[in-house]
Amino acid sequence: MAKEIKKIGVLTSGGDAPGMNAAIRSVVRSAISKGKKVVGIQKGYQGLLNEEIAEMQAWNVSDTIQRGGTVLRTARCEEFKTEEGQERGAEVCRKYGIDGLVVIGGDGSYRGAQALSKKGINTIGLPGTIDLDIACTDYTIGFDTAINTAMQAIDKIRDTSSSHERCSIIEVMGRNAGFIALWCGVSTGAEDILLPEKYEFKEQEIIDNIIANRKKGKTFHLIINAEGIGHSTSMARRIEAATGIETRATILGYMQRGGSPTCKDRFYASMMGAYAVELLCAGKTNRVVGQKHGEWVDFDIDEALAMQKDIPEFEYNVSKALSI
Ligand code: ADP
Ligand code: F6P
Repeated sequence: MAKEIKKIGVLTSGGDAPGMNAAIRSVVRSAISKGKKVVGIQKGYQGLLNEEIAEMQAWNVSDTIQRGGTVLRTARCEEFKTEEGQERGAEVCRKYGIDGLVVIGGDGSYRGAQALSKKGINTIGLPGTIDLDIACTDYTIGFDTAINTAMQAIDKIRDTSSSHERCSIIEVMGRNAGFIALWCGVSTGAEDILLPEKYEFKEQEIIDNIIANRKKGKTFHLIINAEGIGHSTSMARRIEAATGIETRATILGYMQRGGSPTCKDRFYASMMGAYAVELLCAGKTNRVVGQKHGEWVDFDIDEALAMQKDIPEFEYNVSKALSI
């Protein structure tokens, strides 16, 4: 028979993402609605090991849905990658009576959840990352806000780039994934979009493209470069030297991870938090929640971690066709 869950813990782990607060709020209130106790664990797995754990009531998450970041704070914790760290984490859960745990984070955080599940703590992962790089889901909490923040910043840079007839290289986040770059590149009408998944080092092609565009009458050139490729500043220097066109690099950085979440991030994160609580109440463990083809779904963590995700070929081809 499935284990009955009485107390649910919730933590955020890895890089923060706008919408994490909406997910926390949803876990807290969904669990309370089902008669469960809830505890918030501060600073991810580090806070679990340090026993930074406090009971949460519905009012503890009031006035948080519109806030960026995570009210539970987040951290990266090397110790939790070790067998001793994981054993101690499970012990702390038992000590506090936490029999179900919702972990909001990326692939790395799921591995921690997987380890705890093997030690008898029921765990559910929610995809919290701006990078969209989790294979089992078409949506991750924070991506929508991040691309809108980045898009607005790029539009502003485009204005000044156009006035000065410059070439601009704008580097966006995404770790090793190019989803933010692809979406922002298409949405801002970039002439070149450099994605780690597709990138072969052919800077001469970019230079030739800039020169050809000038000849065609295009007065400025926008390049969206993914963090996974990087080196935007040195790339700008080389492009300026080769083309004679003033070239500037802007690295958007952490502004992409902050700010008030979009409606989509608030809504989807709210659905995912509630879904996670339902899974725990049904006695499920070692699962991650996702959205696939518009449906809410869940997968075994082992299965989810083995999945691969790539840039959709159609979207890539469209991005190329539109940038002529
Ligand atoms: P993300 O969850 O965004 O992918 P990280 O990869 O930095 O971010 O992982 C966040 C945290 O999850 C790590 O600091 C660590 O505490 C935990 N974690 C990562 N990998 C493992 C692992 N293999 N086993 C157990 N815990 C892990
Ligand atoms: O995973 C989110 C993310 O912002 C990535 O896009 C980026 O590579 C990384 O986190 C930066 O992490 P840190 O906060 O450790 O600098």
